Amino acid sequence: MNTPVTVPALQARKAAGGKIAMLTAYDYPSAQLMDASGIDAILVGDSCAMVMMGRRDTLSITMDEMLHHVKMVTAGVQRALVVADMPFLSYHISPEEAVRNAGRLIAEGGAGAVKLEGPPEKRADAIRAIVNADIPVMGHLGLTPQSVHALGGYKVQGRTNEAARAIKEAAKGLEALGCFAIVLECIPAELAAEISRELSIPTIGIGAGAGCDGQILVMHDMLGWGHTKFAKTFMDVRGIMAQAFKNYVNEVKIAEFPGPEHQYGPPKKSAEHPASSKDIVEFLLSTDYSEW
Ligand code: KIV
Repeated sequence: MNTPVTVPALQARKAAGGKIAMLTAYDYPSAQLMDASGIDAILVGDSCAMVMMGRRDTLSITMDEMLHHVKMVTAGVQRALVVADMPFLSYHISPEEAVRNAGRLIAEGGAGAVKLEGPPEKRADAIRAIVNADIPVMGHLGLTPQSVHALGGYKVQGRTNEAARAIKEAAKGLEALGCFAIVLECIPAELAAEISRELSIPTIGIGAGAGCDGQILVMHDMLGWGHTKFAKTFMDVRGIMAQAFKNYVNEVKIAEFPGPEHQYGPPKKSAEHPASSKDIVEFLLSTDYSEW
């Protein structure tokens, strides 16, 4: 088995000038394939609410729902670092609740770190408390989807000098609070590159350009479901699945599937290799003992 990816290993990667590859996953088979592909870290994102559950935004996913998906992902991963997103309101009420919820994602879910959204002036108490419980925290700045109503929609952030300065200061603040890495979502590439140069912890970009220390994409966006400027379709799995479903429906309707190779033959009547206890009974009942 390959060496498991740890938080210090990701930080060492940045120090050595290497890039970090990260994707979201929400289930066992996808996580297993990703892990085998050599991915560094897997985020069980609250984007699960939208891409897996068909909900309008990420706000409604609960702790129990997140845990359910975190468990599926960690069951399939042997090597990559699994980061679990903290759902909306799971870290906003009090530092105690934040630690309890982060702890559940680690202890019950099997994740190796948690991620939460927002700047230090709003999240400092929660981050300090979680870090003090020895749980690694990944920050998230720029377009923070849990703030969609406050932001007025899913828009690129940091486009004015003032907004850019605020994001840069926030990134430094999250580093000072002990975050081990920061996701930068939908901010100008130059700003993200500048932040990445000035921090010693890794930045993971999504719609934030090539100057980040790593990249993350939502799995469905890179497999053909995405419609954003920044999400490249690496393979049109959506199209392949759609075609497979159509082929199946068609073959059932024209009675081409199942073919002879997909059907079971009659029970084997062999004394040496009876197929099942039912076969044994049938064999004994049908045997002509006068020949023995
Ligand atoms: O929930 C999510 O998928 C995320 C990524 C977009 C970073 O937070």
